[in-house]
Amino acid sequence: MQDLIDSALARIEAASTAEELETVRVEVLGRKGVLTQLSKDMGKLSPDERASRGKFINGAKQALEGAYEGRKSSFERAALAKRLDAEWVDLTVPAPGPRPGSLHPVTQIQWEIEDLFRTLGFTVLDGPEVETEYHNFDALNIPADHPARDMQDTFWLEGGHLLRTHTSPVQVRGMEKLGPPLRMIAPGRVFRNESVDASHEHTFYQLEGMMIDRNVSVGNLIYFMKTLLTAIFKRDVTVRLRPGFFPFVEPGFELDIRCLICGGDGCPVCKHSGWVELLPCGLVNPHVLRKSGIDPTEWNGFAFGLGLTRLVMMRYAIDDIRWLQSGDLRFLRQF
Ligand code: PHE
Repeated sequence: MQDLIDSALARIEAASTAEELETVRVEVLGRKGVLTQLSKDMGKLSPDERASRGKFINGAKQALEGAYEGRKSSFERAALAKRLDAEWVDLTVPAPGPRPGSLHPVTQIQWEIEDLFRTLGFTVLDGPEVETEYHNFDALNIPADHPARDMQDTFWLEGGHLLRTHTSPVQVRGMEKLGPPLRMIAPGRVFRNESVDASHEHTFYQLEGMMIDRNVSVGNLIYFMKTLLTAIFKRDVTVRLRPGFFPFVEPGFELDIRCLICGGDGCPVCKHSGWVELLPCGLVNPHVLRKSGIDPTEWNGFAFGLGLTRLVMMRYAIDDIRWLQSGDLRFLRQF
C-alpha cells in the first residue's frame, strides 16, 4: 500500500507543468484514484484492520494533498514571477519626443505643381472620383463600343456610375462649367482594374491639364510641358515625343522621359526599355470641344494627363509603386 502512495507522490513531484499536475491530480486524488482503490475492500476487513486502514488512508490523503498543494503553488509563483518580469515598467526611461507627421510625397509634388500652374494663370479644379460613364468616356470621344475602353477597364458601380479611370473627365466638367478661354489643372485619384505589380496599381494619381484659347499650337503645348518638367526635376531630363493615340486629342503624343532610376539601362519601373511614359498629351479633339458646347472653329487647345504617382517614383527613385499606398511609416518618414 505504501508503494502505491509513494509512486503517487513521485508522480506529483514529477509534474513539470500546471497542466500535467492537473492530470495527475485527477488520476491520483480523483474518484478513481489510489485512495478510492484503498477504500474499496474496507467492508471485508475486521474492525481493527478497518481502523488502521482508515488511519492509513487519512494519512496518505493528507500527504498527497499536501504534496499537490505545494507543487501547485510553486507553479503559480513561477507564473506570477514570469508575468511580473514581462510587465516590468521602467519609469525612468525618457518618453519619445513628439513625431510630427508629414505630407505624402504625392501630395508634396501635387502642391508644387499646383503652385507652378497658378503662376501661369491656371485654375485648380477638383472632380468626383465616382464619375458618370458620360464624363469618363462618352464626352471624351470614347463611345461604348470603342476599343479604348478596354485599355481603361474600371470598377463599375450601380446606375451607370464608375470609378474614374483618369482625371480627363474634369476637363469636361471644366469646359461645361467655365467655358473658354480656359486654363485649368485637375489633380486627383484614379482607378483601374489592373493586376498589381511593381509598376501597376489599381489606385493611383494623375494631374490633368487643359488650356483652351484661340490659336493654341503644339508649340504652346511643348513649352508648357518643358516648363513643367524643368520645375519638377530641377535638372535636365531627356525627353522624347512620339505619336500617341487618345480619342480626345488630335494629334496625340506620348511624352516619355529617360528613366531616372536606371539612367536608361533598363529596370522594372521602365519595363527594361530605358524610357518612362510620363506625359500623354495632345491638341483637344474638335469633337470633344463641340460635345461640351465650345465652338471648335473659334477655339482650340491642348490637354495633358500627367502620371503623378509615376512622377514621384522617378523623382525619388522608388522602384516599386506598391510602397506609395503601403502606409508603411518606415517608407513615409523619409519624405
Ligand atoms: N487620360 C489619359 C490617360 O489616362 C491621358 C491623357 C490626358 C492623354 C490628356 C491626352 C490628354 O491615359
